[in-house]
Amino acid sequence: MPQAKPHAAPTPSPAASTRLVSPARNVLGSLRLPGDKSISHRYGMLAAFAEGTTHLSNFSSGADPHSTLACMEQLGARVEHQEGGAIAITGRAGVFKEPQAALDCGNSGSTMRMLAGLLAAQPFACTLVGDASLSRRPMERIRAPLTAMGARIDLTDGHAPVTVHGTLGGGPLRGLDYQTPIASAQVKTCLLFAGLQASGATEVHESVHTRDHGELALRAFGAELSRGKNSVRIEGGQKLRALDAAVPGDMSSAAFFLCAAALFPEANLVLDGVGMNPTRATLLDVLRMLGVRLNVLQLSEQHGELVGTLQVLGTQNLLGAEISGALSAQLIDELPVLAAIAPYTQKGIRIRDARELRVKESDRIALVAQNLRAMGATVDEFEDGLDVPGGQPLHGAVIDSGGDHRIAMAFAVAALRAHGDTQIHGAESAAISFPEFFDFLDRITER
Ligand code: S3P
Repeated sequence: MPQAKPHAAPTPSPAASTRLVSPARNVLGSLRLPGDKSISHRYGMLAAFAEGTTHLSNFSSGADPHSTLACMEQLGARVEHQEGGAIAITGRAGVFKEPQAALDCGNSGSTMRMLAGLLAAQPFACTLVGDASLSRRPMERIRAPLTAMGARIDLTDGHAPVTVHGTLGGGPLRGLDYQTPIASAQVKTCLLFAGLQASGATEVHESVHTRDHGELALRAFGAELSRGKNSVRIEGGQKLRALDAAVPGDMSSAAFFLCAAALFPEANLVLDGVGMNPTRATLLDVLRMLGVRLNVLQLSEQHGELVGTLQVLGTQNLLGAEISGALSAQLIDELPVLAAIAPYTQKGIRIRDARELRVKESDRIALVAQNLRAMGATVDEFEDGLDVPGGQPLHGAVIDSGGDHRIAMAFAVAALRAHGDTQIHGAESAAISFPEFFDFLDRITER
């Protein structure tokens, strides 16, 4: 079986590129995935904030977490890229340096929203900017609660650039008891990062238990948090200390290969070192619902995060699924690829309560529908989801990724079972989360 090792440095190509994806006969082999994007952002930010030098292996190779690292360097942290992709980050013991220029978050909503929380309690003002896609994404969701904590945040028409005034232009932060109106782990983490530096306690209540990497990372760096059934609480004024950690493989990247394997009855794919945090593993339940056979071959815990080896075996009958409510929020990053394989299922996939997909790196509901239609499928589009009937053979087509990494990768997977070749326009966007994606896809597909 081919073995693929993660690469170290991110080198997203700035030029738009088109990838040709030909149909495959099977999916076979084993892969070890690069580090989880969500965990890499959080470890990168907290390492820069903590006292001491943090050593991280398997840090995400995606461009987004490297946007975070570049911002942390501008804020005075020392970031050293070492042999084999390891990274050493020497933190600022709670006090960042005032940056000399705006902090460029690139395409990364996680960087902009979570970093705003860390910066709201710092003694200087700074501005966070992003690319055209990020500059369209809603930022009021962090401005409102941070303002309630005493921060002063200026947005531009609800979007980036975001200016965080810090304690000089704003004031010292005070703790907040907050119910998030939108299920968002980025907002929750932003508030916990601000709460860490506030006076008193900050408690965030959420109606859906979103990914808890922020909570686990804060604990790993030495903070104390308490959890209620649907809430998390942090006392302000806690110090963080450096950490040695390996970042688990990214389940949202694994999703593309798990869905690719689901398309072939004879598929047999093993994924090593995958992050299996229950708040990220809902896809496994949906794949089982679809009839896919999954085996967890090994499971361990690292700094509160579950990490495992996963085997996926294909099925003769790919059934169908209904995804709504909390499931949609927990699967938010996996919905594009699930929708893209839905025509190959027997009963189709129905997605609702996923309005957030419209404000991701692209309008993912519109682009998924557009690209499925280009491949010959019938799709019904709703404000908050899609109905993709099953039993529809697809043909190769020209796919518009809209510069969105998850759209590019989702349709590369759909292309594996199509009749004829598919061209993915804007394929370079995969590098935002997963630069190795197309190489890995080649390694595990039999043609
Ligand atoms: C993320 C949370 C999700 C997800 C994003 C990463 C995180 O966004 O879509 O890719 O790391 O917290 P929201 O918080 O907007 O739901």
